[in-house]
Amino acid sequence: MKKCISPASSIEGAISLPGDKSMSHRYAMLGAIAEGTTHIRNYSTGADCHSTLGCVRALGIEVEGSGTDFAIHGRGLDGLRQAAKDLDAGNSGSTIRMLSGILAGQPFRTRIFGDESLSRRPMQRVMTPLVQMGATIHARERMLPPLEIEGAKLRPIDYVLPVPSAQVKTCVLFAGLFAEGKTSVTEPVRSRDHTEIALREFGAAIEVERQKITITGRPQLEGRELDVPSDLSSAAFFIAAALMTPGSRLSIGGVGLNPTRSALLDFLVGMGAKIHIPNLESRNGELVGEIVVEHSELRGGTIDGGLTAALIDEIPVLAVLGTATEEGLTVKDANELRIKETDRIKTVVENLRRMGVAAEESADGFFVPGRQKLRAAELDSWGDHRIAMAYAVAALRADGECAIDGAEAASVSFPEFWDTLAAVVK
Ligand code: S3P
Repeated sequence: MKKCISPASSIEGAISLPGDKSMSHRYAMLGAIAEGTTHIRNYSTGADCHSTLGCVRALGIEVEGSGTDFAIHGRGLDGLRQAAKDLDAGNSGSTIRMLSGILAGQPFRTRIFGDESLSRRPMQRVMTPLVQMGATIHARERMLPPLEIEGAKLRPIDYVLPVPSAQVKTCVLFAGLFAEGKTSVTEPVRSRDHTEIALREFGAAIEVERQKITITGRPQLEGRELDVPSDLSSAAFFIAAALMTPGSRLSIGGVGLNPTRSALLDFLVGMGAKIHIPNLESRNGELVGEIVVEHSELRGGTIDGGLTAALIDEIPVLAVLGTATEEGLTVKDANELRIKETDRIKTVVENLRRMGVAAEESADGFFVPGRQKLRAAELDSWGDHRIAMAYAVAALRADGECAIDGAEAASVSFPEFWDTLAAVVK
């Protein structure tokens, strides 16, 4: 699907957004292995989170509901059944990697596959710890999906993550639920901690000491009532659009502001962004608040080290925002971007070049010059949801109408994106 976007004169209004993708996946998976019913409100409408629900159903768990409210009738740690067919993770790295941890602890074999993009994403990072714990896993050549996971009685391990990845951390902690004793994961930099918070909510014993997280196996998990906040990573597109467009003022309600995710707001405020959080509360152990953002003059900056890991999903739209800053934006230490839904270093830089911006690619990042005029262009998502949405934001600031090929990719995390955008663009 090709989407044509005209320049905006301002971004205004009050919106709320679909539920957080990261939390939705975790709540659905934990709901499936908890005892009793888990009610989830504002579940993500994205295709990725629906891939997770499809897998959970295929494993014999009854899931009732539609739209954004679901009841998951969990059957306890030992309640999953062998799926009658292969599990389809679609485009979702979170589904295949996190669910693998649970599948490794089952007394049966499961085959799980994904779409063309997912079939190019590395799985060695989850296979290594799960094999150490006792599972047998076969992958395609070069450790790519599909995965065939032969579950086993798992043993606990102390695992040091070689890459900063909340998906891999989650996979090992989920496997640790099925092992007798204490499993721990040490991360190189602190990644999003929704798993730790959700596990506690469901009743598991979790200890966190600096970057080492330890779970005690075979806990009694209990079904919960859960409310998913709006996804901060989806909000990022609207925050960037408002910051870049003179005369803008936008309020986004009920956004997840977990400190391991909200480095985005600190980074923007550090560059001069006018962002206010008029209210903040705690829900299911997660911080939730309203974000009010106004058009701002931004200095520009550098994203590197631990900050790169903290902002990894927001980097495409921050690259677009970089064009409107005084000094531009430098991104370093971002090798992980090359193995997302697309090679996001390449896809970010290529679209910027099409708009006349002399962005420079490096091995582990890029530089986007500031004070740029964006030229109307034919842009492409290459099937990547965050590239589609980031360049919709860029198109709002172009000197004429832009077309985005593959715009339907947005529905992987945010099917309502185009309608929400139309509602705030003046
Ligand atoms: C996620 C972790 C990140 C992120 C992805 C969601 C999660 O991936 O990019 O969109 O929910 O744990 P990595 O674990 O590969 O860094």
